[in-house]
Amino acid sequence: MSKGLIFSGIQPTGNLHLGNYLGAIRNWVALQDEFDCLFCVVDLHAITVEQDPAELRRATVELAAGLIAAGIDPEKNILFNQALNPNHAELAWLFNCVARIGWLNRMTQFKEKAGKHRENATVGLYDYPVLMAADILAYRATHVPVGEDQKQHLELTRDIAQAFNSQFGKDVFPLPEPQIFGAATRVMSLRDGTKKMSKSDSSDYSRINMTDGPDEVALKIRKAKTDPEPIPEKVEDLGDRPEAKNLIGIMAALTGRTAQDVTSDYAGKGFGDFKKGLTEVAVEVLGGVGAEYQRLMADPEHVQAVLARGGEKARALSAPVLQDAYDVMGFLGVKRPY
Ligand code: TYM
Repeated sequence: MSKGLIFSGIQPTGNLHLGNYLGAIRNWVALQDEFDCLFCVVDLHAITVEQDPAELRRATVELAAGLIAAGIDPEKNILFNQALNPNHAELAWLFNCVARIGWLNRMTQFKEKAGKHRENATVGLYDYPVLMAADILAYRATHVPVGEDQKQHLELTRDIAQAFNSQFGKDVFPLPEPQIFGAATRVMSLRDGTKKMSKSDSSDYSRINMTDGPDEVALKIRKAKTDPEPIPEKVEDLGDRPEAKNLIGIMAALTGRTAQDVTSDYAGKGFGDFKKGLTEVAVEVLGGVGAEYQRLMADPEHVQAVLARGGEKARALSAPVLQDAYDVMGFLGVKRPY
């Protein structure tokens, strides 16, 4: 029995990394047996920053292959790229006319991404969270598994749904719940424990990619920034050691234990020993994914066909929702083809 409908998305920009895996994908894999799920490669979001067309095509197939390799089953779930369902962009326009500039002005991700060159950022980057609300609500999804960094966008989604329903006097949209799972909702860079592990970091040593082989994983963990202090008995005593905290958090997430369990195991030891243990665990968890990914990438057309099938299902599922939105808003004669 399904308990609800899940929607989640991931941008095809650069490599899939350990942060995406521990913060999101691993949870998606676990949820696919319990819920009906849509998993979306959000290509329309990727063009909010500069994108090269050939790169976008490549990254879209690679990401889809990475998700399947990580355990997302395209037979059980709807796996597709966002541009295959125009209903997302259409609903985003309707929501643009409900959402308020003041709400978007509060979004910290826009501030971070636009940086000092705010005036030069695209309108799309500013409007990004409204499209995200449309992604979710086009299916009336009830649950959204994401990492901590997306929480504010989810709150905006709920605000938009609520404002729409109250403005038009009908509960067209549910208020979706974020699902943020325990450990490693924020995996940090291996080079700087105060920065999020990110696909867009120019240093490949800052992240472990899902497709890295055992040698690369070992090298990156060996080179990961740490400090010369030993690991304390109590996790609180890690104090202001962001890199140490991050590696311990990663170990905890990979092994399904608490950070306190990990510090107890390694109490009094230095990071040399710890890194050996972490490498073993990381290679074990990621090993199979890399091999399966290589197998899938040998036939990119098959991956594209999988996305196309998902796109068809996604369009069919969202059509009645769009119809309801148009009807309740008073548009004349709109009949959704899909
Ligand atoms: P994106 O592509 O940046 O990241 C995909 C998912 O991975 C999580 N994540 C992390 N978790 C822990 N530590 C990290 N270092 C880390 N980096 C990324 C993110 O929280 C996310 O869950 N806006 C979204 C994509 C999106 C979406 C949606 C998500 C578009 N529409 C609708 C949910 C529902 C994003 O940029 O994710």
